[in-house]
Amino acid sequence: MSGNDSLQGFLAAAVDAAKKAGQLIQEKFYQTKHVEHKGEVDLVTETDKACEDLVFSHLKQCFPSHKFIGEETSAAYGTMELTDEPTWIVDPIDGTTNFVHGYPFVCVSIGLTIGKVPTVGVVFNPIIDELFTGIRGQGAYLNGKAIKVSSQDQLIKCLLASETGTSREKSTIDDITGRINRLLFKVRSLRINGSCALSLCDVACGRIDLFYINCYGGPWDAAAGAVILTEAGGLVYDPSGRDFDITATRLAASNPLLKETFVEALAHP
Ligand code: IPD
Ligand code: CA
Ligand code: CA
Ligand code: CA
Repeated sequence: MSGNDSLQGFLAAAVDAAKKAGQLIQEKFYQTKHVEHKGEVDLVTETDKACEDLVFSHLKQCFPSHKFIGEETSAAYGTMELTDEPTWIVDPIDGTTNFVHGYPFVCVSIGLTIGKVPTVGVVFNPIIDELFTGIRGQGAYLNGKAIKVSSQDQLIKCLLASETGTSREKSTIDDITGRINRLLFKVRSLRINGSCALSLCDVACGRIDLFYINCYGGPWDAAAGAVILTEAGGLVYDPSGRDFDITATRLAASNPLLKETFVEALAHP
């Protein structure tokens, strides 16, 4: 098997796993959910846990020597260690609050890092049946069709996406809303869809121009979306303009034409 063949094999297995979990999300979406609280507004349901189990068992069967990180296991047990080994990074439902409310922006996000570099990404929204895929060096696709970022270069014509996170600490909220408030004067409009992974894919397919988040929960929010976005010709970077760090909790994303202006706007909103 060549390197490319095995990357295709990794992608195929991740798509199968995402479809299995997606079927469960779809089934449970219109039913009453059993909701637990990790924090005041930080929710988890039995379906989050069941989807993580499904994805893990599928991929572990295919790739027993690989490492695994998942929001509902690693975060809960503090076992998140990202090494150079091939590592599957799984968010079983990104957009749990949306899932609980029946708001149709939910997805399964499955990323594979090799040498800590996001290399394969699958983001599947089973409710509106959108499957985003990407392999490093081999392009990005939405339902099998190649996608690319927007070619917008003027901030005032941009659609900005952001997120409000799950912390309700006053200083965090003041920082998030203050920055969004000031950025709004410089862009066309703002969207907050409740899913970091889907927002990255929205930038990848050009329906959102800019995405900024300084409160994402862990690498599972960004691992798959980062591959898809960069393979669609986009850039993911620290809001300061420095390199993206998958273990941090903040990122900015855009097409290459907007990076400098966006970083400047984020620094001096
Ligand atoms: C959340 C979503 C949301 C972001 C939060 C994340 P979850 O993930 O990505 O967009 O604002 O910080 O925790 O909990 O729905 O998987
Ligand atoms: Ca969560
Ligand atoms: Ca998430
Ligand atoms: Ca989640």
